[in-house]
Amino acid sequence: MSEKQLNHNEIIPEQKNNIKTLPVCLITDGVNDYGNLGMIFRIADALKLEKIYLYNLKKDLNLRLLRKKSRTTSEYVKFEIIEDFSGILSLKKSYNFVILEKTDKSINYTEYIPKLPLCLITGSEKNGVSDDIIKLSDVSVHLPMSGVNTSVNVATAAAVVLYDFNNKINNYE
Ligand SMILES: C[S@@+](CC[C@H](N)C(=O)[O-])C[C@H]1O[C@@H](n2cnc3c(N)ncnc32)[C@H](O)[C@@H]1O
Repeated sequence: MSEKQLNHNEIIPEQKNNIKTLPVCLITDGVNDYGNLGMIFRIADALKLEKIYLYNLKKDLNLRLLRKKSRTTSEYVKFEIIEDFSGILSLKKSYNFVILEKTDKSINYTEYIPKLPLCLITGSEKNGVSDDIIKLSDVSVHLPMSGVNTSVNVATAAAVVLYDFNNKINNYE
């Protein structure tokens, strides 16, 4: 039997509209690379995340570039720029903070049972998640690394754990 890829228009919109928003948001801490931001937006769209909060941006956000790199998903995914740490503190009042980082206390992401509502926090290629935010952590999770390197790309790491959280959340309901 033949098999073919479905294009955008062949995936039925009504089916997609019935999928609920996942009660998970994401904070990017110091992620300034548009390739990475674009991939993160595509994952957020794919899983219908609640919102992305962009923290520690070096420059004004280039919306045109973000739209291009995110394959237009930046038009559909809710997002907000967090200007200073007080914005992080106010989010902490509403969400469980799950830090995506290898720390001395982090656990394998497969062992974590999502406590909702949750906010996943990812760090930058160079510095990882800021210490100030790690201090606010309810839990830190990591991907085990069996090779030489100590980390994978930020969007890759986010995709792995977010799909895992999505499966866990949907299986408990
Ligand atoms: C390239 S890593 C930087 C990690 C680290 N601070 C370093 O410099 O080795 C960028 C971000 O991807 C995520 N990340 C990458 N690999 C990870 C892993 N194995 N476990 C948890 N998070 C990871 C984290 O959010 C991290 O802040």
